[in-house]
Amino acid sequence: MPSFAIALIAAAIATVEAVAVLEKRAVTLPPANGKFDYQLGGAYTPPTGTQILTRDRTASPVTGLYNICYINAFQTQPDDATWWKTNYDTLLLRKSNNQYFEDPDWPGEIFLDTRTAEKRTALATIVNGWIDGCATAGFKAIEPDNLDSYTRSNSLLTKANNLALAKLLADHAHTKNLAIAQKNTAELTASDKATVGFDFAVVEECQAYDECDNFTDIYGTGMLEIEYTDNDNAQSVFKAACTARGATHSVILRDRDLVASGQSGYHYEQC
Ligand SMILES: *[C@@H]1O[C@H](CO)[C@@H](O)[C@H](O)[C@H]1NC(C)=O
Repeated sequence: MPSFAIALIAAAIATVEAVAVLEKRAVTLPPANGKFDYQLGGAYTPPTGTQILTRDRTASPVTGLYNICYINAFQTQPDDATWWKTNYDTLLLRKSNNQYFEDPDWPGEIFLDTRTAEKRTALATIVNGWIDGCATAGFKAIEPDNLDSYTRSNSLLTKANNLALAKLLADHAHTKNLAIAQKNTAELTASDKATVGFDFAVVEECQAYDECDNFTDIYGTGMLEIEYTDNDNAQSVFKAACTARGATHSVILRDRDLVASGQSGYHYEQC
């Protein structure tokens, strides 16, 4: 090959790499140990000093904060189940008896069927539209929930199925300069993180279940932690989490239903 052709190819490769670096840089991570609130049960004025805020994709981000957009990407929200059945019934998982397969822990939330590439592409088309909405609204990151649905699906769904959908969502989020969080799913490895392209982690109850190291080993300080008040010994669990990670990580204690401030049952503490 003539040397000018080699030089051209080298220049083209360098350009592709430069673009890849620029795209990577465009994604920002939540500030490590930033004050954090998790507002999925209703939006309200965040506590003073909040830097990182998670809200549902249908709620508005708050100017000046690192806003994370919550998306239920692996199962229906109870309110959306009828919409899914009407428009995309074949994308809902059914048991062998043909009944919809609802999350045993969250009634009304039907698992999305991630088993084939065709279905994953169809699901990603829908969810990527929501991700576009997050980007337009001004969120900085997305939190696709129920990545671990396969662990509750009597093995109908596999880890590989869900990671394959997550990869489609991560690639799309990154084109919109949004970071993407791994949600829960302690069994995932550093290699799974790299395969999908997760940027940080959002984890519920890792102290209560003694699995925080599974995430911090992979994500370092890039983990936001929520413990809940309805667990046994919730206050001592939270204290232990604060002792272990409060100086380095965002750790909060909230009521399970994440109700809005001022409503009955509301609880918020940070380390
Ligand atoms: C968390 O990590 C520990 C130690 O490596 C491992 O034994 C455990 O299985 C992991 N938890 C999950 C849910 O995979």
